Amino acid sequence: MTEYVKKSSVPGQKSLIRNSVAKMSGYVPGEQSRSDKIIKLNTNENPYPPSPRVVEALLSLDVGKLRLYPDPVSLELRKELAGRHGCKPENVFVCNGSDETLKLCTQAFVENGGSIGYFNPSYSLYPVLADIREAVKRPIELSDEFEWPTDAMADMDFDLFFLSNPNAPTSILYPSDAVRDFCVSGKGVVVIDEAYVDFASHDCMNLALTMDNVLVARTLSKSFSLAGLRVGYAIGPEPLINALMKLKDSYNVDAISQQVALAAVKDSEYMRTNVARICKTRSRLTMLLKDKGYKVYPSEANFIWTKPAGIQAEKLFGILRKKGILVRYFPGDRTGAYIRITIGTDTEIDRLLDTLSKIVDGTFADNDNLNEGKP
Ligand SMILES: Cc1ncc(COP(=O)(O)O)c(C=O)c1O
Repeated sequence: MTEYVKKSSVPGQKSLIRNSVAKMSGYVPGEQSRSDKIIKLNTNENPYPPSPRVVEALLSLDVGKLRLYPDPVSLELRKELAGRHGCKPENVFVCNGSDETLKLCTQAFVENGGSIGYFNPSYSLYPVLADIREAVKRPIELSDEFEWPTDAMADMDFDLFFLSNPNAPTSILYPSDAVRDFCVSGKGVVVIDEAYVDFASHDCMNLALTMDNVLVARTLSKSFSLAGLRVGYAIGPEPLINALMKLKDSYNVDAISQQVALAAVKDSEYMRTNVARICKTRSRLTMLLKDKGYKVYPSEANFIWTKPAGIQAEKLFGILRKKGILVRYFPGDRTGAYIRITIGTDTEIDRLLDTLSKIVDGTFADNDNLNEGKP
């Protein structure tokens, strides 16, 4: 093993890492276990496989063409998405996962020293993106019950506001009127992050199609079962889309992803069928957890936000993990009493419910460590 020459420790040498980067904490993604024994209910992936059309698209790939760069502007996919949302391809931006859109928005719409707003709690990437951009962070507290904080929103000043709707991790969908009024009164760009909207009863796409300061960000990671592909898109007014186009990597979406995403989007019917199954399982899980005394918030997403009964959330998270069931726990004042559970298959949810019963009736003790299924 070679050893690095330690230039950074020479007196008078300037730091090699930018100060703000050295100080910031990066985003911490949920645990990714590849073991088949694990029941993975922690990162809001879809438990069902992608459309059979995706398989066909992969099998029909012309591997020889991979020597060529992909279409830099993903035109075919943008045309298809534009057709579906009733806009022009010029209103569509295709990205390497929705996270790319969010990051580019911080570069496109926030002046140096400008501000980025978001709710607390919400998607934990937002403050990290603000740190990367060295922007002023303007977190707005949600109400005690994680609802829209009416008073706090009046006359808010920001360059960019990230509004996850339905919100993660709370699963709640905000009223359309409140969102519209906020976009009208807001002084900067509002990005409505609709990563989970296919599981919800309404969306805000009409705002992105009619207002000059609103973008809607969507992803194929959740409802289309394609988290591994990394494709998302944004819809909005041409000047905002053009700004993102200028900033993206030249070939931000690879050729395979463009082809596969197109096949998936064309088979929206398959996606809808899976969404319906997931929503049905969501209702069943909600009902059965409520029967156990858990508080469960009204979910419009592919996960639920719940306060366990008879056991602390963090402890429950730890025991479930030992039993091979991964859920998500977010420490902190606002979130530490809750866990977030992704909706899995019915079989997975039955295993979860069975394990929860055994934890509460004492069949499983805290230190009872089953080796099988350990992450
Ligand atoms: C609210 C929200 N927005 C965006 C994303 C990221 O989506 P993508 O996988 O397309 O980057 C997530 C992922 O969990 C999310 O929860």
